[in-house]
Amino acid sequence: MGLTEVIKEDVKFSDKLLARIAELKSHFPEGKHKSALITVLHEAQDEHDNWLSVPVMDKVAELLNILPIEVYEVVSFYTMYNQKPVGKYSFEFCRTSCCCLRGAEDLIEYTCKKLGVEEGQVTPDGLFSVKTTECLGACGYAPMLQLGDYYHEFLTPEKMDKLIDDCKAGKVEFYSKG
Ligand code: FES
Repeated sequence: MGLTEVIKEDVKFSDKLLARIAELKSHFPEGKHKSALITVLHEAQDEHDNWLSVPVMDKVAELLNILPIEVYEVVSFYTMYNQKPVGKYSFEFCRTSCCCLRGAEDLIEYTCKKLGVEEGQVTPDGLFSVKTTECLGACGYAPMLQLGDYYHEFLTPEKMDKLIDDCKAGKVEFYSKG
């Protein structure tokens, strides 16, 4: 499929999401709706399996009356936005200095090996993926990862084993929104 075809692909935003975007836009004057972009992208990502495809980003640009490139540059800058599909449980490991000093790199390697994926890949059952991020502001609890809306801290291989098992058993709360 060519890029043009991808861009032309239609995407569905729910009435709830469209209403939320309209409400977010209302907080800013006409011509300044780009100010709502960060929040709108979070909402759009939440509704589209936790990642932002080109058609979804283009729809956001259309709704905010800005250029698609203005959306792409924000999405590609912040690691909280996913530019390709992720697993239901997306382990986002901090890879910055404090976490690295406390074994993050070994832990990432351990987790990837256990799941049989490389960083950025999704397990065949769609359950897990691994990505790395810059500092998540929990340096005192290193090494740590973010899973959905929650942090998991002072991680060890044993804790990763338990976290993975608990995810498989559906026992891990990872998303606080209804
Ligand atoms: S260095 Fe990992 S949370 Fe700050």
